Amino acid sequence: MTEADLESHRNDVAAELRADVREGLTAAQKWLPPKWFYDAEGSELFEKITVLPEYYPTRSEREVLAARAVEIAELTGAHTLVELGSGSSEKTRLLLNALTAHGTLESFVPMDVSETALAEAASAISADYPKLEVRGVVGDFTRHLQLLPGTAPRVVAFLGGTIGNFLPAERTEFLRSVREVLDEGEWLLLGTDLVKDREILERAYDDAAGVTAAFNRNVLRVINAELGADFDPDAFEHVSYWDPGHEWIEMRLRARRRLEVHIPGADLVVSFAEGEHIRTEVSAKFRPSGVEAELAAAGFEVTRWWTDSQQRFGVSLARSVRA
Ligand code: AVJ
Repeated sequence: MTEADLESHRNDVAAELRADVREGLTAAQKWLPPKWFYDAEGSELFEKITVLPEYYPTRSEREVLAARAVEIAELTGAHTLVELGSGSSEKTRLLLNALTAHGTLESFVPMDVSETALAEAASAISADYPKLEVRGVVGDFTRHLQLLPGTAPRVVAFLGGTIGNFLPAERTEFLRSVREVLDEGEWLLLGTDLVKDREILERAYDDAAGVTAAFNRNVLRVINAELGADFDPDAFEHVSYWDPGHEWIEMRLRARRRLEVHIPGADLVVSFAEGEHIRTEVSAKFRPSGVEAELAAAGFEVTRWWTDSQQRFGVSLARSVRA
């Protein structure tokens, strides 16, 4: 297998987790950042989620990319494809195929917090696209964006609806920081899951096979492994809740009984009342007008907006303009 370049900006993962756990689990409303789902086990569980019958976003987005990849290549003439939160980079092949056929693409820069998922994806892609320069970056794209390599014009792809995992203020800041690393005329390709009926949404995050529940509880296993904590994952019930005011899905872990959890690596003892929950993820859903407005506020102009045939998921191709 071809070796792909991997550079890491995650020097002290345990210290980062410790800080997040201290902040989130001492808050009045307990919460944890969703990026901690994705150790090797969590990344595998996420791959299983993407093929569940209830979890439509991956299929809906793939339908759009399959139909529009050639158009994306023609409109952008990209020399570099940067993919944020790339995971297994499976849908990205649709873009890579179109961009390499178009003849402009020189390099692919996948970036992810999961070193295992990234290393696998990067070496598989450099084996399958031998002329492409593949430079994987292990890092948290909310903090390491200034380090993106590659020649212009670049397309930054942020797919899967992962932008919905930010809170609104983080989202604004994130879009501004993407705009800041791009030159005028470079591109953002953004996947956004759309607002729809509560039942479809809640089931997408609470599948019958229990894969999403295992994925959610995995964050407790990560804290046990990294910080020596004694969470009993089975003491927590998996909850998928549509918040109609914020228009987001919340994943929660709800304590089935009173509990005390020791987290020596964070120098913390955390008490839970029966029924008290940790918010482990928000996954915001969007309306087309909202996506356009948020992009405009960050300095992007939407060139194309596409949805799948069932209008469940939106993909926008936006060009950076003078702010
Ligand atoms: C693809 C990371 C955005 O929010 O839908 C899937 C993660 N969480 N099931 C999403 C996820 C629960 C997913 N992202």
